[in-house]
Amino acid sequence: MAKIIAGIGSSHVPAIGAALDNGKTEEPYWKRVFSGFEKSQQWMRDTKPDVAIVVYNDHASAFSVEIIPTFALGCAAEFPPADEGWGPRPVPVVKGHPALASHIAQSVILDEFDLTICNKMEVDHGMTVPMNLLFGKIDKDSHWPCPVIPLAVNVVMYPPPTGHRCYMLGKAIRKAVESYPDDLRVVIFGTGGLSHQISGPRAGLINSKWDKTFLDNLSKNPQKLAKIPHVDYMREAGAEGIEMVMWLIMRGALDDKVDEVYRFYTVPASNTAVGHIILENHRRGGKTPARRKPAAGKLKHAAARAKIQRVRG
Ligand code: DHB
Ligand code: FE
Repeated sequence: MAKIIAGIGSSHVPAIGAALDNGKTEEPYWKRVFSGFEKSQQWMRDTKPDVAIVVYNDHASAFSVEIIPTFALGCAAEFPPADEGWGPRPVPVVKGHPALASHIAQSVILDEFDLTICNKMEVDHGMTVPMNLLFGKIDKDSHWPCPVIPLAVNVVMYPPPTGHRCYMLGKAIRKAVESYPDDLRVVIFGTGGLSHQISGPRAGLINSKWDKTFLDNLSKNPQKLAKIPHVDYMREAGAEGIEMVMWLIMRGALDDKVDEVYRFYTVPASNTAVGHIILENHRRGGKTPARRKPAAGKLKHAAARAKIQRVRG
């Protein structure tokens, strides 16, 4: 059985990618950002996931304003980096996992989440920057350390999905992964945010208090975050702060109680507050601990419930 072992939240500021591509990581401004991900890269090297699901948003690279899928799952064998105006980033083509992705599409759609299936898609900084932050700089002619399934979420054109919808989609993705027969250890990324606004009179807005409370609740009380309406993200975290709903897909795919193993926050990178968190499920990889046997009475009740469900089914 495949299982989700951990979730990673990370900002995806495009200038971070440009700093990496143009050899500026040692400049003090950028070193402050990159040094916050050194421990995470070690964690990733130790964890060695078999597959990563990366929840991100497309910034009018793969989809123009003509077609705006709310949730688009990449089921292709590969996803080339998009040309965002300066040529494609010099990163390897992202190899997908079509078998697991199709399985997720089937399970999640039958669970009544209407995903768009993408059999051809280019991926932009929303996806490749967090991948670099966690996997490190990788030569264009080399390869990313594991297959990646992209899940693009519309947070660019109103109306984006609600935080609650995202949280529930995360739960459906977890169920899908856990019904996949191969023993794969899967990590899921939630990307974007944290607070930022890149145009209009409030351009440059950053709200560190909001961001830190968001990270605290992401760890300990995600149900509370799932109730936050769009307007609060806009008001408190800026117009592009709405990207943070994508972190709730990642969180929904994890256990209710998780271990926060790492957190990093710095302000700013370009116009944005950079946030990063790693949350592990208690039973990450390895053997599933044996369940305690329920008491005889409870078993009887469970058997009775199963019978009722069969009758109803
Ligand atoms: C910036 C941040 C983003 O998330 C993005 O998609 C584009 C630009 C920025 O801070 O410059
Ligand atoms: Fe963005």
